[in-house]
Amino acid sequence: MKHLLTLKDYSRGDIEKIINQAIEIKANPKKYADLLQNKTLIMLFQKTSTRTRLSFEAGMTQLGGHAIFLDSRTSQFALTDFKDEIKAVMRFGDILMFRARKFSDVELTASLNQIPVIDACSEKYHPCQALGDILTMAESAGGLSKIKKVVWLGIENNVSNTLKLACAKLGINVYLVTPKAHEISVDEELNAMAEETGHVRKTLDLAAAMTDADFVHTDTWMDMEFFEEGEVKPEFKEEYEARIKMFQPYQLNAALVNQYGGKAKIMHCMPCHVGYEITRDAIDHPNSLIFSQAENRLHIQKAIMLYLLKG
Ligand code: CP
Repeated sequence: MKHLLTLKDYSRGDIEKIINQAIEIKANPKKYADLLQNKTLIMLFQKTSTRTRLSFEAGMTQLGGHAIFLDSRTSQFALTDFKDEIKAVMRFGDILMFRARKFSDVELTASLNQIPVIDACSEKYHPCQALGDILTMAESAGGLSKIKKVVWLGIENNVSNTLKLACAKLGINVYLVTPKAHEISVDEELNAMAEETGHVRKTLDLAAAMTDADFVHTDTWMDMEFFEEGEVKPEFKEEYEARIKMFQPYQLNAALVNQYGGKAKIMHCMPCHVGYEITRDAIDHPNSLIFSQAENRLHIQKAIMLYLLKG
Protein backbone atom coordinates (compact mmCIF):
# COMPACT_ATOMS: atom_id res chain seq x y z
CA MET A 1 0.00 0.00 0.00
CA LYS A 2 1.31 3.45 -0.93
CA HIS A 3 1.59 6.16 1.76
CA LEU A 4 3.01 9.71 1.70
CA LEU A 5 5.45 9.99 4.58
CA THR A 6 8.97 11.25 3.95
CA LEU A 7 9.37 11.36 0.15
CA LYS A 8 12.47 9.13 0.60
CA ASP A 9 10.63 6.32 -1.21
CA TYR A 10 9.26 8.57 -3.98
CA SER A 11 11.07 8.67 -7.30
CA ARG A 12 11.49 11.67 -9.56
CA GLY A 13 8.71 10.18 -11.71
CA ASP A 14 6.34 9.88 -8.72
CA ILE A 15 6.92 13.52 -7.77
CA GLU A 16 6.50 14.74 -11.37
CA LYS A 17 3.29 12.74 -11.68
CA ILE A 18 1.74 14.37 -8.60
CA ILE A 19 2.82 17.89 -9.65
CA ASN A 20 1.54 17.44 -13.20
CA GLN A 21 -1.72 16.02 -11.86
CA ALA A 22 -2.13 19.07 -9.58
CA ILE A 23 -1.54 21.42 -12.54
CA GLU A 24 -4.19 19.54 -14.53
CA ILE A 25 -6.71 19.54 -11.63
CA LYS A 26 -6.19 23.24 -10.98
CA ALA A 27 -6.87 24.03 -14.66
CA ASN A 28 -9.92 21.72 -14.91
CA PRO A 29 -11.43 21.30 -11.44
CA LYS A 30 -14.90 20.27 -12.71
CA LYS A 31 -13.43 17.28 -14.53
CA TYR A 32 -12.39 15.84 -11.16
CA ALA A 33 -15.56 16.71 -9.21
CA ASP A 34 -16.81 13.14 -8.73
CA LEU A 35 -13.63 11.10 -8.69
CA LEU A 36 -13.67 10.41 -4.95
CA GLN A 37 -17.42 10.10 -4.53
CA ASN A 38 -18.34 8.13 -1.37
CA LYS A 39 -14.74 8.23 -0.16
CA THR A 40 -13.96 9.47 3.34
CA LEU A 41 -10.83 11.30 4.41
CA ILE A 42 -10.06 11.24 8.13
CA MET A 43 -8.05 14.26 9.26
CA LEU A 44 -6.35 13.59 12.60
CA PHE A 45 -4.68 16.55 14.29
CA GLN A 46 -2.48 16.44 17.37
CA LYS A 47 -1.41 20.03 16.62
CA THR A 48 -3.07 23.20 15.32
CA SER A 49 -3.43 24.06 11.64
CA THR A 50 -5.06 26.53 9.27
CA ARG A 51 -3.91 25.69 5.73
CA THR A 52 -3.53 21.94 6.04
CA ARG A 53 -6.97 21.49 7.54
CA LEU A 54 -8.71 23.79 5.05
CA SER A 55 -6.93 22.48 1.98
CA PHE A 56 -7.57 18.80 2.75
CA GLU A 57 -11.18 19.34 3.76
CA ALA A 58 -12.03 21.61 0.80
CA GLY A 59 -10.02 19.37 -1.53
CA MET A 60 -11.94 16.23 -0.53
CA THR A 61 -15.26 18.08 -0.93
CA GLN A 62 -14.24 19.26 -4.40
CA LEU A 63 -13.38 15.68 -5.40
CA GLY A 64 -16.86 14.52 -4.39
CA GLY A 65 -15.88 12.87 -1.11
CA HIS A 66 -16.24 13.71 2.55
CA ALA A 67 -13.70 14.72 5.21
CA ILE A 68 -13.94 14.19 8.98
CA PHE A 69 -11.94 16.43 11.31
CA LEU A 70 -10.69 14.61 14.39
CA ASP A 71 -8.81 16.50 17.10
CA SER A 72 -6.83 14.14 19.30
CA ARG A 73 -7.43 16.46 22.28
CA THR A 74 -11.22 16.31 22.01
CA SER A 75 -11.49 12.60 21.15
CA GLN A 76 -10.54 9.49 23.14
CA PHE A 77 -6.86 9.43 22.14
CA ALA A 78 -5.92 10.92 25.50
CA LEU A 79 -7.54 8.04 27.35
CA THR A 80 -6.23 4.95 25.64
CA ASP A 81 -3.44 3.18 23.79
CA PHE A 82 -2.58 5.05 20.58
CA LYS A 83 -2.26 1.93 18.45
CA ASP A 84 -5.65 0.56 19.47
CA GLU A 85 -7.36 3.88 18.89
CA ILE A 86 -5.79 4.53 15.46
CA LYS A 87 -6.62 0.97 14.32
CA ALA A 88 -10.27 1.69 15.16
CA VAL A 89 -10.17 5.17 13.54
CA MET A 90 -8.96 3.75 10.23
CA ARG A 91 -11.99 1.43 10.03
CA PHE A 92 -14.13 4.52 9.28
CA GLY A 93 -12.26 6.01 6.32
CA ASP A 94 -10.55 5.35 3.00
CA ILE A 95 -7.53 7.59 3.58
CA LEU A 96 -5.98 9.27 6.62
CA MET A 97 -4.02 12.51 6.95
CA PHE A 98 -2.23 12.82 10.25
CA ARG A 99 -0.63 15.93 11.77
CA ALA A 100 1.39 14.32 14.52
CA ARG A 101 3.63 15.52 17.30
CA LYS A 102 5.98 12.58 16.59
CA PHE A 103 6.73 11.03 13.21
CA SER A 104 7.06 7.65 14.94
CA ASP A 105 3.26 7.68 15.42
CA VAL A 106 2.74 8.37 11.69
CA GLU A 107 5.16 5.57 10.84
CA LEU A 108 3.38 3.15 13.17
CA THR A 109 0.00 4.13 11.66
CA ALA A 110 1.25 3.56 8.11
CA SER A 111 2.86 0.24 9.07
CA LEU A 112 -0.61 -1.14 9.84
CA ASN A 113 -1.37 -0.82 6.11
CA GLN A 114 -5.11 -0.46 6.64
CA ILE A 115 -5.58 2.65 4.46
CA PRO A 116 -3.14 5.14 2.81
CA VAL A 117 -1.58 7.48 5.38
CA ILE A 118 -0.30 11.01 4.74
CA ASP A 119 2.17 12.77 7.04
CA ALA A 120 0.46 16.16 7.26
CA CYS A 121 3.45 17.72 9.08
CA SER A 122 5.34 15.94 11.78
CA GLU A 123 8.49 17.20 13.50
CA LYS A 124 10.61 15.72 10.68
CA TYR A 125 8.70 16.06 7.43
CA HIS A 126 6.07 18.09 5.62
CA PRO A 127 5.75 16.34 2.23
CA CYS A 128 2.44 18.01 1.27
CA GLN A 129 4.05 21.41 1.77
CA ALA A 130 7.10 20.42 -0.30
CA LEU A 131 4.98 19.17 -3.20
CA GLY A 132 2.74 22.25 -3.01
CA ASP A 133 5.79 24.52 -3.04
CA ILE A 134 7.17 22.77 -6.09
CA LEU A 135 3.81 23.26 -7.80
CA THR A 136 3.97 26.99 -6.96
CA MET A 137 7.54 27.29 -8.26
CA ALA A 138 6.71 25.34 -11.44
CA GLU A 139 3.75 27.65 -12.13
CA SER A 140 5.83 30.74 -11.54
CA ALA A 141 8.83 29.55 -13.55
CA GLY A 142 6.74 28.28 -16.47
CA GLY A 143 7.44 24.58 -15.92
CA LEU A 144 9.22 22.20 -13.57
CA SER A 145 12.35 22.13 -15.71
CA LYS A 146 12.67 25.93 -15.46
CA ILE A 147 13.25 25.88 -11.68
CA LYS A 148 17.04 26.06 -11.42
CA LYS A 149 18.06 27.52 -8.06
CA VAL A 150 16.17 27.52 -4.76
CA VAL A 151 17.43 29.13 -1.54
CA TRP A 152 16.31 28.27 1.97
CA LEU A 153 17.11 30.84 4.69
CA GLY A 154 17.10 30.46 8.48
CA ILE A 155 16.64 27.16 10.25
CA GLU A 156 16.72 23.65 8.78
CA ASN A 157 13.50 21.94 9.79
CA ASN A 158 10.70 19.57 8.75
CA VAL A 159 9.68 21.80 5.82
CA SER A 160 13.22 22.29 4.51
CA ASN A 161 13.94 18.55 4.84
CA THR A 162 11.21 17.49 2.45
CA LEU A 163 11.59 20.50 0.13
CA LYS A 164 15.34 19.85 -0.15
CA LEU A 165 14.84 16.18 -0.91
CA ALA A 166 12.09 16.76 -3.47
CA CYS A 167 14.10 19.46 -5.25
CA ALA A 168 17.25 17.34 -5.24
CA LYS A 169 15.37 14.40 -6.75
CA LEU A 170 14.09 16.72 -9.49
CA GLY A 171 17.62 18.00 -10.26
CA ILE A 172 16.98 21.48 -8.80
CA ASN A 173 19.91 23.14 -7.00
CA VAL A 174 19.12 23.96 -3.36
CA TYR A 175 21.21 26.33 -1.24
CA LEU A 176 20.67 26.05 2.51
CA VAL A 177 21.74 29.18 4.37
CA THR A 178 21.10 27.75 7.80
CA PRO A 179 23.32 28.37 10.82
CA LYS A 180 21.46 25.64 12.70
CA ALA A 181 19.11 22.70 12.26
CA HIS A 182 16.12 22.18 14.53
CA GLU A 183 17.44 19.14 16.43
CA ILE A 184 14.21 17.14 16.42
CA SER A 185 13.89 17.45 12.64
CA VAL A 186 17.25 15.93 11.74
CA ASP A 187 17.13 12.81 9.54
CA GLU A 188 20.65 11.80 8.57
CA GLU A 189 19.43 9.25 6.02
CA LEU A 190 17.37 11.94 4.25
CA ASN A 191 20.31 14.36 4.36
CA ALA A 192 22.63 11.78 2.81
CA MET A 193 20.08 10.93 0.13
CA ALA A 194 19.66 14.60 -0.81
CA GLU A 195 23.39 15.35 -0.71
CA GLU A 196 24.25 12.32 -2.88
CA THR A 197 22.38 13.93 -5.78
CA GLY A 198 24.96 16.74 -5.90
CA HIS A 199 22.19 19.34 -5.91
CA VAL A 200 22.38 20.46 -2.27
CA ARG A 201 24.81 23.10 -1.00
CA LYS A 202 25.18 24.42 2.54
CA THR A 203 26.68 27.89 2.95
CA LEU A 204 26.42 30.96 5.16
CA ASP A 205 27.53 33.15 2.24
CA LEU A 206 24.37 35.04 1.31
CA ALA A 207 25.92 36.37 -1.90
CA ALA A 208 26.75 32.86 -3.14
CA ALA A 209 23.23 31.68 -2.35
CA MET A 210 21.20 34.68 -3.49
CA THR A 211 23.02 35.41 -6.76
CA ASP A 212 20.83 34.10 -9.61
CA ALA A 213 18.36 32.53 -7.18
CA ASP A 214 14.93 31.85 -8.68
CA PHE A 215 13.14 31.34 -5.36
CA VAL A 216 13.94 32.13 -1.76
CA HIS A 217 12.10 30.41 1.09
CA THR A 218 12.09 30.74 4.83
CA ASP A 219 10.14 29.44 7.83
CA THR A 220 9.79 30.30 11.48
CA TRP A 221 12.75 30.07 13.82
CA MET A 222 11.09 31.83 16.77
CA ASP A 223 9.04 29.79 19.21
CA MET A 224 5.71 31.51 19.85
CA GLU A 225 5.58 29.91 23.31
CA PHE A 226 8.25 32.46 24.31
CA PHE A 227 5.62 35.25 24.24
CA GLU A 228 2.77 36.34 26.47
CA GLU A 229 0.60 39.30 25.43
CA GLY A 230 3.29 40.46 23.00
CA GLU A 231 6.09 40.36 25.61
CA VAL A 232 8.90 37.82 25.90
CA LYS A 233 8.45 35.74 29.05
CA PRO A 234 11.41 36.29 31.43
CA GLU A 235 12.33 32.58 31.46
CA PHE A 236 12.80 32.60 27.66
CA LYS A 237 14.63 35.94 27.32
CA GLU A 238 18.08 34.39 26.96
CA GLU A 239 17.00 31.87 24.31
CA TYR A 240 14.98 34.56 22.49
CA GLU A 241 18.05 36.81 22.23
CA ALA A 242 20.29 33.93 21.17
CA ARG A 243 17.92 33.06 18.32
CA ILE A 244 17.70 36.69 17.14
CA LYS A 245 21.50 36.88 17.07
CA MET A 246 21.84 33.60 15.19
CA PHE A 247 19.06 33.88 12.60
CA GLN A 248 18.30 37.59 12.07
CA PRO A 249 21.25 38.01 9.63
CA TYR A 250 19.41 35.54 7.36
CA GLN A 251 16.01 37.24 7.54
CA LEU A 252 14.00 37.28 4.30
CA ASN A 253 13.34 40.96 3.56
CA ALA A 254 12.83 43.17 0.53
CA ALA A 255 16.31 44.71 0.79
CA LEU A 256 17.92 41.27 0.50
CA VAL A 257 15.93 40.34 -2.60
CA ASN A 258 16.47 43.74 -4.22
CA GLN A 259 20.21 43.66 -3.41
CA TYR A 260 20.67 40.51 -5.49
CA GLY A 261 18.95 41.67 -8.65
CA GLY A 262 15.34 41.64 -7.51
CA LYS A 263 14.69 38.39 -9.41
CA ALA A 264 14.09 35.84 -6.65
CA LYS A 265 10.46 35.04 -5.88
CA ILE A 266 9.60 35.14 -2.18
CA MET A 267 8.09 32.08 -0.47
CA HIS A 268 6.96 31.16 3.03
CA CYS A 269 4.76 28.19 3.95
CA MET A 270 2.93 30.30 6.61
CA PRO A 271 2.13 31.18 9.32
CA CYS A 272 4.62 34.08 9.02
CA HIS A 273 6.18 35.64 12.09
CA VAL A 274 6.56 39.17 10.85
CA GLY A 275 9.75 40.89 11.96
CA TYR A 276 11.51 37.62 12.69
CA GLU A 277 12.21 35.26 9.77
CA ILE A 278 10.38 37.56 7.30
CA THR A 279 9.40 41.22 7.08
CA ARG A 280 6.15 42.88 6.04
CA ASP A 281 7.88 44.34 2.97
CA ALA A 282 8.83 40.81 1.84
CA ILE A 283 5.31 39.41 2.33
CA ASP A 284 3.84 42.31 0.33
CA HIS A 285 6.71 42.50 -2.21
CA PRO A 286 5.75 42.24 -5.93
CA ASN A 287 7.83 39.03 -6.00
CA SER A 288 5.89 37.41 -3.15
CA LEU A 289 4.16 34.13 -4.04
CA ILE A 290 3.11 33.47 -0.45
CA PHE A 291 -0.66 33.58 -0.90
CA SER A 292 -0.62 31.54 -4.12
CA GLN A 293 1.64 29.13 -2.24
CA ALA A 294 -1.07 28.81 0.43
CA GLU A 295 -3.80 28.26 -2.19
CA ASN A 296 -1.75 25.63 -3.97
CA ARG A 297 -1.98 23.45 -0.87
CA LEU A 298 -5.56 22.80 -2.04
CA HIS A 299 -4.60 21.69 -5.55
CA ILE A 300 -1.72 19.53 -4.40
CA GLN A 301 -3.80 17.80 -1.69
CA LYS A 302 -6.29 16.81 -4.39
CA ALA A 303 -3.49 15.37 -6.52
CA ILE A 304 -2.00 13.55 -3.52
CA MET A 305 -5.33 11.94 -2.56
CA LEU A 306 -5.99 10.87 -6.15
CA TYR A 307 -2.47 9.47 -6.42
CA LEU A 308 -2.85 7.41 -3.24
CA LEU A 309 -6.41 6.24 -3.89
CA LYS A 310 -6.43 5.87 -7.67
CA GLY A 311 -2.76 5.44 -8.57
N1 CP B 1 2.02 25.53 6.25
C1 CP B 1 1.12 24.85 7.00
O1 CP B 1 1.18 23.63 7.12
O2 CP B 1 0.15 25.61 7.55
P1 CP B 1 -0.81 25.15 8.74
O3 CP B 1 0.08 24.87 9.93
O4 CP B 1 -1.72 26.32 8.97
O5 CP B 1 -1.54 23.93 8.33
